[in-house]
Order: sequence, then structure tokens, then C-alpha cells
Amino acid sequence: MKLFTPGHVILLISIHFATVCGYLNLFLSLPEVQRLLGLRAELFYVRNGIINNYALHFVVLIPSKIDSLHFTWESLVPGQPVSYSMMLETSNSAALPPPKLNISKTGLIPNTLQTFAVSLPCSGTVEGEVDITLIINITLSHENVTTLTFRRKKICLQFEKSTTYISMDSMPQFSNSVNIFYIAVCCALVLILILAFVVTLYYIKDKKTRRTIENGSGPTTTTTTTFLAALPRNSVNASSYGSFRRMPSYSLIDERSKDLQDRIAELTVQRCRVRLSSIILEGTFGKIYQGSYTNEDGTEETVIVKTVTDHASQVQISLLLQEGMAMYSLNHKNILTILRVSIEDHTAPFLLYPYKNYKNLKHVLAKCKVSSEGVHHTLTTQEVVDMALQIIQAMQYLHKKHLLHKDLAARNCVVDDKLNVLVADNALSRDLFPSDYHCLGDNENRPVKWLAIESLLHKSFSPSSDVWSFGVLLWELTTLAQQPYIEIDPFEMAAYLKDGYRLAQPINCPDELFAVMAYCWAMSAEERPTFTQLHVCLQEFYAQLTRYV
Ligand SMILES: *[C@@H]1O[C@H](CO)[C@@H](O)[C@H](O)[C@H]1NC(C)=O
Ligand SMILES: *[C@@H]1O[C@H](CO)[C@@H](O)[C@H](O)[C@H]1NC(C)=O
Ligand SMILES: *[C@@H]1O[C@H](CO)[C@@H](O)[C@H](O)[C@H]1NC(C)=O
Repeated sequence: MKLFTPGHVILLISIHFATVCGYLNLFLSLPEVQRLLGLRAELFYVRNGIINNYALHFVVLIPSKIDSLHFTWESLVPGQPVSYSMMLETSNSAALPPPKLNISKTGLIPNTLQTFAVSLPCSGTVEGEVDITLIINITLSHENVTTLTFRRKKICLQFEKSTTYISMDSMPQFSNSVNIFYIAVCCALVLILILAFVVTLYYIKDKKTRRTIENGSGPTTTTTTTFLAALPRNSVNASSYGSFRRMPSYSLIDERSKDLQDRIAELTVQRCRVRLSSIILEGTFGKIYQGSYTNEDGTEETVIVKTVTDHASQVQISLLLQEGMAMYSLNHKNILTILRVSIEDHTAPFLLYPYKNYKNLKHVLAKCKVSSEGVHHTLTTQEVVDMALQIIQAMQYLHKKHLLHKDLAARNCVVDDKLNVLVADNALSRDLFPSDYHCLGDNENRPVKWLAIESLLHKSFSPSSDVWSFGVLLWELTTLAQQPYIEIDPFEMAAYLKDGYRLAQPINCPDELFAVMAYCWAMSAEERPTFTQLHVCLQEFYAQLTRYV
């Protein structure tokens, strides 16, 4: 296998005068933002002369396949000439020859919208780190010079094998590449912060009025109600996306159902060995009990028992068995694996899981919120990150076993008193958490607000769609189990996500953590991090947090 040691490009944005530099607009157009960040929005660096420090502050990671950047600007004072001078710097001219501008390096900013391009193709002969800095001095009068510095970061590869690099899964196999992909992840995080910012901007803009500021190019209008009618309904077959090629051998959990009978036979125990003691959770037909199970050698074990009432339909019973057996025979400290099954004629099956004072994570989180006066435990950022890391480890293990979870959410995790988190299957969740599942016209009750865009649209699942759901789970952890997108009609979700909207940054959620979530919600599955990368990144963040404690 070819080993790539990709490099990086950092492009800085520093402002000497952070206020007004004449009346000027300088922004990334809608197609440009879409190309770079996958969002339908404009990104203003200077709007009506006001500099957007927030946007300017980030290093933008340029995907290796993008060879040029486009900026759009115009001067808004017809009578008064605004002159500019530009300078481009790169850190590694072997990997990336000096970039070229398609406008003059000095001149007057035009009074009409102009787009200029910076072309920065990699040489392809050397792989390496490249920092690109674009400095623009804007002079209104002699003494008033405003300097805008834009930092970009580009990864250049040898032989232009950009597509191979983008496939992040291959990277962890390179023994010395951990730092590199850590850097890549964190740069991407920064990119996502911008993205999140754009979303916010766009959202605010859109909310107030459709056209606020008198810039020529009208902002986009959101498509809403008619959207779902246009959805392809027939693309039910999973893993049809080209981007999932990188993990060809993934079997979906429910595809293992062919040997369901065998697996159940292996785990079956007599009903008389199971005793139910108290009910933990109850839905309309699903029930979770605490109980005990007597082993062959006479020892007793406390167990969780998932079952359904006698009124449950055959469909509900087989769904319980199918979903409950999904994680059969797995062995990981952060996965709640089924222990035993008890099936007797004419009664509902019992599914037995180990019980160590486990509570449903969603309920535990919600409880933290209700009583924040110290009686119950409230979560620190450190604890949130620690729990997230445990979930990541469970998911890494699951994916290593070629299993997709497809319904990762707080409701499908359990937690003990010491905040050990275990990822569980989703058996009975539809019944116990009915407001987390919705039917979109078909008869399938799906966790719509946890689903990745491609799962929602095409029912296609991959490790990256589990990553998306993990992002929502992280959001649940930081909001103490608020309902995601509470104000959005489930039927509108696909259109909402397509328009670039995402969950907002929770109050008190550190930027670093929000960046991780936002990164999980990249439109394209390929741009989302892997669980391995998330692990590295959050571990680093955890180390930072503990350093000051
Ligand atoms: C921008 O202005 C600063 C001082 O105001 C000067 O040092 C720098 O060389 C200028 N850069 C360009 C690209 O003109
Ligand atoms: C520079 O290139 C961009 C992108 O190709 C193009 O849209 C723009 O018109 C060009 N600008 C000038 C001044 O040639
Ligand atoms: C420079 O700009 C500032 C802020 O707009 C203004 O207060 C100041 O008078 C300007 N100085 C000159 C010399 O134009």
C-alpha cells in the first residue's frame, strides 16, 4: 500500500484595524461556500465596511481536490476610490508553487461585484505541508490602511492521489500518521466552526428578512413544503452510495437475521430460571424489568429483562427478537450484550441483559437537568467528554466487527453510578421513547432526527451515518437530553438539513466540543470524521481539560 505523508497549509487572517475600512463588501459567494463547505450560504468577511472578525479568525482547510479559491468583492462608495494591494505567501513551494491571482496585485476595488481567483494547484511531485497566506491592504485615505489576512491550509499529496487521502479510514493504518490525521481533524474542526458560523449567520439572516442588506446577489430562499414529494422513495437498498466503497464488507445488523434462529437457540434458557422483580420502564406494549436469573450452577445474577405484553403483535415480538439479538456475542466493556433469551410457547419472549445498576442514559441526563440544586449530579464538561470517549470506543469495536448500529442515541445507552456508559441495542425504544421516532409516510418508524442525511433520504447506512448519530448523541449529552430540532416538523427534516441547517451550539457547550459535533454532520459522508479520529481528538481535548484541574 502506498504511504502518503500529506502536508498542510495554514492561511492566517489577522486584522490590524478591526473596524471600518471604507464601504466595502468582501465575501465568499454562495457557489464558493457550497464548494468549500457544502453549505448554501454566503460568507461575509467584510459587510458594508464592517469586518467580521469571527469569520476572519479561522484557518480554512482546502480540500486537496480544490485548486482555486474565489473571493468576491465590491466597493460601495462610487465617488471615492478604494485601493488595495495584495500579497500571497506559501510555506512550502516544493509542494505548492506560488499561487497566482487573476487580478492585478494592486489596483482599485471595483464598484461592481468582481470575483477574483487564487489558483493553488499542488505540484504533485512533493507531498507536504503548505500554509497559504493572503494579505490584502485596503487603503481609503493615505493613513488609513486596513490589513486583512486570510489563512488557508492545503494538504498536498504526491501524484495528486487526492481521493485516496480523503478516505480517512485508510489513515489510521499508517503507524506514524496519528499526528497527521489529528492535525487534519482539528483543521477540519476549525473549518466546521466557520461552517457553523455560516449557518448561524444564514439562519439569522433568513429569519429576520429574506433580503436584509442591499448586496446585489440575493440570498437563497429555502425550499420547504414541496420538498418531500420529490424524495426518491424507491431507493431502499442500502449502501448504494459510492462513498461507502471504503468499507465494502459492512453487513447491516438486520441482515444477520438469517441466523437469528441459531443464535436464539444458543442463548435460550428455561423460563423458570427467570424471575421478574420490579418494572423499570413501560411503554404501550414494551416493558423493561429488573429481575434475576438462576444459572445452572445455582448462582443468581441480577438482570435487565426486555419483553412485551401479551397483547403485542407477532411483528412486535419478532422486531424485539431481531433488534435485541443485534449485538449478540459481542464482548466489550462499553457494549450491553444480551445474555440470555427465554422463549416459551404462548408467552412473550424475555431478553436478558446484565444489570449493574444501569439506568437509561436519556433519563439520567434529563434528571440532571430537573434538579440542578446539587441533589442530583450535574455533569461537567470533563464527564461529558469521558462518556463520549466510552461511546466512541464501543462504536469502534462495533465497526471493527462489521456491525452498524443505525440507531445510536442517548435512549439506546445505559449508564451506571460511576458514569460508565454502555451502548445498547434499540429493542423496544420505539415504544418506550415514541417522541424520538417518526413515520414519514411509509410505515417505518424511524429516529428521523438522529439520522444522517443519506439515511433519511435513501435509507443508506454506513459507519459515517453512525458518526452523524454520534454527533446528535453528543449534543444530547451537552444539552442534558433535550429533544433535537424540537421546532422542526419531521417531514421537514430532510429539506432543513439539505439547506445547511444543523443543531445550534448548546449553552455552555465549549467550542471544541461543538466543533466535533458539527464535523459529524458534514453533508458528505466522506467528510465526516471516523470514530478513530474522534477518539484522538476528544482524548486530546480531555487531556487539555484535566491539565487545569
Ligand atoms: C500592508 O501594509 C503594511 C503596513 O501598513 C505593510 O507593512 C505591508 O507591506 C503591506 N502589504 C502589502 C501587501 O501591501
Ligand atoms: C477570475 O477567475 C474567476 C474564476 O475563474 C472568474 O469568475 C473571474 O471572472 C476572474 N476574474 C477576472 C478579473 O478575470
Ligand atoms: C482613519 O479612520 C478612522 C476610523 O474610520 C477615522 O476616525 C480617522 O479619522 C481616519 N484617519 C484618517 C487620517 O483618515
